[in-house]
Amino acid sequence: MRRLLFAANWKMHLGPDEARAYVKAFRARYNRREDREVWFFPPAVSVEAAAQTARDRGDLLVGTQDVYWEPKGAFTGAVSAPLALQAGARATLIGHSERRHVFGETDEDTRRKMGAALAAGLLPMLCVGETLAERDAGHTLAVVVRQLAAALSGVDGAALSRVVVAYEPVWAIGTGRTATPEDAGAVHREIRGWLHGRGAPAPRVLYGGSVNAKNAAALLAERELDGVLVGGASLDPEGWAQLVQTSAA
Ligand code: PGA
Repeated sequence: MRRLLFAANWKMHLGPDEARAYVKAFRARYNRREDREVWFFPPAVSVEAAAQTARDRGDLLVGTQDVYWEPKGAFTGAVSAPLALQAGARATLIGHSERRHVFGETDEDTRRKMGAALAAGLLPMLCVGETLAERDAGHTLAVVVRQLAAALSGVDGAALSRVVVAYEPVWAIGTGRTATPEDAGAVHREIRGWLHGRGAPAPRVLYGGSVNAKNAAALLAERELDGVLVGGASLDPEGWAQLVQTSAA
């Protein structure tokens, strides 16, 4: 059975009360399907509220949008993987394009964060993707492979199997432009092949970038996609529940 992963990246939206109301509304609208799971990435302050509201539903999982690599200490403003775990997170995004391009996160940062997430027992969702200039220059695959190699250097087969990769072309995020299913599929094949070659038997590769209720079906018809990572279109719980409920596997 093809099992799809639908991931919601709330970015800097939805505080704790809103997160509770959102997860309640989502649960009321979405009837569990065995062929899919749903992950939510609230802002750090809302992780506990979301995780508590999702608690007795094994198909719903909550994660953080970022973690710092040190486990604890004098790092004002940062959240570590063990602290995220304590708040109820089971996963974390790593290297999201906004972390890389707004906050200046480097490949080396993603490597350290990957190690910290895996050491703490969080499921890392590594985000990779090229900018428009890189795409136009024909560098898409080189950039994606560089990001994979950097973040995952030293991660072996068993740990690698716990990593989900989200291919998110930077030019598609929040812009209303998506990669075509064929273009996304071609990059996914490369990513899957790369992970395979390093010992992950069944890697999961998601697509992200302006996915919404209108284009999800066409994208997910591409068998290379194991799911989607969605920002804007995940913020309304009813719309998101509908997208998750009805997208064909
Ligand atoms: P978007 O964001 O769906 O709003 O384009 C996707 C993401 O940044 O993960």
